Amino acid sequence: MLQALTLEDLTSFCIRRGFFFPSGRIYGGLRGFFDYGPLGAELRREILDDWWYYFVRRREDVVGIHGCIITHPRTWEASGHLESFFDYLVTCSRCGRDFRADHLLEDAGVKVVELTAEEISRLIREKGVRCPECGGELSEPVPFNLMFTTYVGPKRTRASEAYLRPETAQLIFLNFKDVYYASRLKLPFGIAQVGKVFRNEISPRNFLFRLREFEQMEIEYFVNPRKMDDCPLFKDVADMEVQLLTAERQEKGLEEPLRITLEEAWEEGLISCKWHAYWIGESLRWLERIGISLERIRVREHVKTELAHYAIQTFDIEYNFPFMGWKEIEGVSNRGDYDLRRHQQYSGKDLAVEDDGEKVLPHVIEPSFGLERIILAALADAYTLIKGRPVLSLHPRIAPVKVAVFPIVNKPDFTRKAREVYHMVKEHYTAIYDEKGTIGKRYFKADEIGVPLAITIDGKTLEDDTVTVRFRDTREQIRVHTSQLIQKIREILENWHHHTTRKT
Ligand code: GLY
Repeated sequence: MLQALTLEDLTSFCIRRGFFFPSGRIYGGLRGFFDYGPLGAELRREILDDWWYYFVRRREDVVGIHGCIITHPRTWEASGHLESFFDYLVTCSRCGRDFRADHLLEDAGVKVVELTAEEISRLIREKGVRCPECGGELSEPVPFNLMFTTYVGPKRTRASEAYLRPETAQLIFLNFKDVYYASRLKLPFGIAQVGKVFRNEISPRNFLFRLREFEQMEIEYFVNPRKMDDCPLFKDVADMEVQLLTAERQEKGLEEPLRITLEEAWEEGLISCKWHAYWIGESLRWLERIGISLERIRVREHVKTELAHYAIQTFDIEYNFPFMGWKEIEGVSNRGDYDLRRHQQYSGKDLAVEDDGEKVLPHVIEPSFGLERIILAALADAYTLIKGRPVLSLHPRIAPVKVAVFPIVNKPDFTRKAREVYHMVKEHYTAIYDEKGTIGKRYFKADEIGVPLAITIDGKTLEDDTVTVRFRDTREQIRVHTSQLIQKIREILENWHHHTTRKT
């Protein structure tokens, strides 16, 4: 494919090879919605499963839940989303099209963080921003709430109105006390959830980056407010060096991040508490575990005007996309006791729990990952040219297909044996079989969709039952007896030395 990876290239590659399809494509598509194709569906599962393993199953202090998508409307009054979860909308007075005001300003070269309606209005006039479609004059900005509304039951009345959740986090807060009792947990502990969320974006864009329906992987980690710096796990991440762009540096107009260990960052008071620094570190470790290069990751603090209504301090984990620069793929927030306090107030239920013989309303650190953004970063990171050919160098942990099986030629003795090997491998790993075209072309097709290992049945196989195993990234080959094949594949995949070599 390409020298410099563009978003258009990646989008058409993903559609062509069956990672994603625009939803409702035969009817012209629905903006902001993508369906996962066969390869995308496997990639999604691998990422979700590894996330769940790493952050839930492996740990003793995190449990998972799976909450409803249509949620009690009071949830969003209490959470502040009804009041505060909006973007500013401007409408063209000539053609009637709607736009997100901050996007238009960004496109006009204005650096926008969070602005008030008055500031947006002033900047639109000052910069002479007009409708990008027809050049018409734009209306005053009006707030547009991003939650999707639906109706529960047969009557479409105000009383039957409910919302599709815009974040999974609130389901965790609603269930907090029940989970605490049912799981016999003690502070500090976390509750995790993965699932669909919905945001009625005014202008969805950039392929998977800004969708109206997407998936989150979130943890709310509950800590006694007096013990925010009492983090016995901190040693696991203390020495990690991160590229940290503080709010202070941004306010001074500095773009260059500090290179600093998490311990130093905490000691210098740059991160709200030790648990916050710990969860930034754990997040980075997981991103690295699935093959994303930390060299292309920075940790950027939200400046004051950008903070969500619930946040004390937030860091975006940003990936440096070749086609759109630094963009958020995860947020790690200190939400304080905002959510539990508000739900306590709105429900009248006591949500405090016991710790060290006293009742406390825990504070919360929240790592919140956007699945499709992680996928976009993983694909951009993996897309590379090796010896002039496109290779999707995905880590085997998330590669949608682990093994390809080929007969060297399309003749009955070879195809019979190859299909036998294919079925044996398929019992253990996702595998594909291909007998069409030259062997070279088949290797390249497998490389392009990120298959780490390709097994070939050749003349020697028919004599001694050995096959070749070819490595995607180096093109090296080894010979393995079929009786040892599954064990060998396991060994190779589990000890994979991953190099991210993006050259595009
Ligand atoms: N739960 C954080 C977010 O959805 O942005």
